[in-house]
Amino acid sequence: MDLKSKINLEKLPRHIAVIMDGNGRWAKEHGMPRVFGHRNGVKAVRETTEACTELGVKYLTLYAFSTENWNRPEAEVSALMTLLVETIKKEIKTLNENGVRLQAIGDLSRLPEKSRKTLLQAMEDTKQNPRMTLVLALNYSAKWEIVEAARKLAKAAKSGEIEPADIDDEAFSNALSTAGIPDPELLIRTSGENRISNFLLWQIAYAELYFTPTLWPDFRREHLYQAILDFQNRERRFGKTSEQLV
Ligand code: FPP
Repeated sequence: MDLKSKINLEKLPRHIAVIMDGNGRWAKEHGMPRVFGHRNGVKAVRETTEACTELGVKYLTLYAFSTENWNRPEAEVSALMTLLVETIKKEIKTLNENGVRLQAIGDLSRLPEKSRKTLLQAMEDTKQNPRMTLVLALNYSAKWEIVEAARKLAKAAKSGEIEPADIDDEAFSNALSTAGIPDPELLIRTSGENRISNFLLWQIAYAELYFTPTLWPDFRREHLYQAILDFQNRERRFGKTSEQLV
């Protein structure tokens, strides 16, 4: 039986988040510059998005550029930004045809003007699409996001808009850039690294973590199916005992 037909569509993760890692190593293995790895990573982005849409996963978040990625060589940063603009422009028609809404999280103000404009336009042009939401994390880091949320809430408390006691789990979630998006239930990281690297720290409190040695440019729908099947075979207890779940 093929992997896809083994998936229980009633128990799909509503939100999958992915740390796309290994583009540089993949390029090196092919004797090519790092940018070649990023270019091939776009194929994996396309395939993962398609597969999630077809299955009925409602949210897919991809870690495309972290706040720490600015420290990479200037040429690589610039190539990544160009790739982002090119990809969005090229894929917008397909996103609309497939009912995919594009959103972004992160400090977009620091993105080059052209990248930001293209991104905001694409978000506007796809905002009515109902089937799936593709969230790109760009110039994103979880610590940055948590500090921003704390500032926002502190300001609201100082101005008397809210009481400090009003700040609870829900209020904090609503102050994050992912407000309105359900927390990821499955987090995938490729390339054999077993780290979270400052990604969605608040939101993954109860996510199942799935690490695969596959390098991101090699990641295909079969790898995604495997991750979902692994997720479906786990017992999610949320602090309860196994017996309580029965
Ligand atoms: C990590 O691999 C990958 C990135 C920092 C960038 C990911 C970007 C893409 C896949 C292309 C564009 C994406 C979209 C959404 C259009 P790495 O460079 O850290 O690899 P390494 O650890 O092997 O060096």
